[in-house]
Parts: sequence; C-alpha cells; structure tokens
Amino acid sequence: MEAPVEMRGVVKSFGPIRAVAGVDLAVGRGEIYGLVGPSGTGKTTLIRMICGLLKRDAGEVRVLGHPIPEEKRKVEGRLGYMPQERALYRDLSVEENLLFFGQLNGMKRDEIQKRAAEILDFMRLAHLKGHLVGNLSGGKKQRLSLACTLLHRPELLVLDEPTVELDPALWQEFWEHFHELKARGHTILLTTHYLEEAGRCTCVGFMRAGRIQVEGAPAELQARVAQVQGGTPSMEEVFLFFARREGR
Ligand SMILES: Nc1ncnc2c1ncn2[C@@H]1O[C@H](COP(=O)(O)OP(=O)(O)OP(=O)(O)O)[C@@H](O)[C@H]1O
Ligand SMILES: [Mg+2]
Repeated sequence: MEAPVEMRGVVKSFGPIRAVAGVDLAVGRGEIYGLVGPSGTGKTTLIRMICGLLKRDAGEVRVLGHPIPEEKRKVEGRLGYMPQERALYRDLSVEENLLFFGQLNGMKRDEIQKRAAEILDFMRLAHLKGHLVGNLSGGKKQRLSLACTLLHRPELLVLDEPTVELDPALWQEFWEHFHELKARGHTILLTTHYLEEAGRCTCVGFMRAGRIQVEGAPAELQARVAQVQGGTPSMEEVFLFFARREGR
C-alpha cells in the first residue's frame, strides 16, 4: 500500500523566494509526522501543496496514491485540512459551522447532524453547540476548528500549527486526541514551532530554509546525538545539534 503522503524533489518559489527548496517526504499510514521548524522555513507552503492549494514548480506530490493537484478531487473526502489561518464563520453558531463544513465535504444534512453530535462530544463542545463562534474563546475556536476538520472522518489529517497558543491543559487534550486518532487508524501530518512537541510525534522532520534537514523517530534522533555528545539530549538539544552541523 502506498504511503498517505509522498513527495519527491518538490520545489516551490514565490518570485525570488525559494520557499520549498527540494523536499523528499514520506508519511506512512498511522504515523504522527511533525514538521518542526522556525517561521518562514516553508512548512505551510509544503502543506498547501499536499492539500492541492498550490502547485509545485518541480518534483512530485502524491497523496493517498493520487498525483496532486492533478487528482485533487479524488482525495478531497479522505483528507482533512486545518489551515494556519482558522477558517470559521464568526456569525454562525458552533453547530452551523459544522453543517457548513460538512456540506463543503459532500456530506448529507442528516449524516452531518449525527456525526456533529459525536464530534462535539469528542471535542467536549456539546454544551456550546448553539453559541455564536464570534463569542467563543481562542481555545474553543481552535477545538471547533479541529472538529470541523474531523467531521467527515478523513483518514489523513493535515494540521497546520494545530496547537499554537493553546493553554497547557488544552494542549495536553489536543495531544490525547491526536494519539486517539492514530489508534483509530488515522494518519496525521502536523506543523509546529514547539520543539517539545517533536518528542510526541512518531516521526519528526526538522525544516530549515525550505528543506527537511534531518528526520526520524524522536528516539532515533536522540540516539544519534547521544552517540556524539553523550547523555540523554532533549529535542531542543537534538534540533540545535543538527542546526549547528548544517551551519558549518
Ligand atoms: N503566497 C506567497 N507569496 C509570497 N511569498 C510567500 C507566499 N507564501 C509564503 N511565502 C514566503 O515563503 C516562505 C515560507 O513561508 P511559509 O509560510 O511556508 O513558512 P512557515 O514555515 O509556514 O512559517 P510560519 O512558521 O511562520 O507559519 C516565507 O519567506 C514566506 O514569506
Ligand atoms: Mg506556516
């Protein structure tokens, strides 16, 4: 079976800016793959190419076995995208937002209503279903944004900075959801600035200047650094180690 996400030699420029400068990436089924890196390193550009919103300049992008963006339509119902700029309707209620996103993903109204009840329970938002989104706190909006992404039960989740600015309790909750989704057989590709999140992924790719500089399971990367430095390096130390090595 093919990997849910496969990229080979992918390049994307915006005028003189080379946002993605030759990326090979394979995200296996059931993986929680974390693209980790500072601002402006090309994480969102990479994600947008996977979701078929941007076309690569060179290379190959395959998602769930289909070339993207050429066969984007064929994967739409199987992919859930949570954009970095959260796309919720402030003037609609929690439930109406779910209805809207469900219809966008080709679901029928009664199917959405049934599924919305489940997902609102899962995300602990059921008591807020009639509330206007504009009046919700940032954390609740973020939970709703994830709920909208999960509504149509996509097998592949592409989440752009899903945990940014969450308070510690909600952060913990999001990670519990991710591991629960993984246990149910979903594949997750997410981006983050937070190095402490890297250790929670099953595979991490450190991005720098449009490239995946190094990747592997957290324990494997830690072992590589420990061989040189000794001790038990944190993910921050692992990131710094590879960043310095590249800098030479
Ligand atoms: N539509 C665009 N037009 C012009 N430049 C762009 C566009 N989108 C991204 N860029 C540039 O490409 C580079 C990579 O941007 P990108 O948004 O992919 O980075 P990122 O890693 O997601 O950053 P952040 O962590 O801040 O979200 C940046 O220099 C950015 O300014
Ligand atoms: Mg980004």
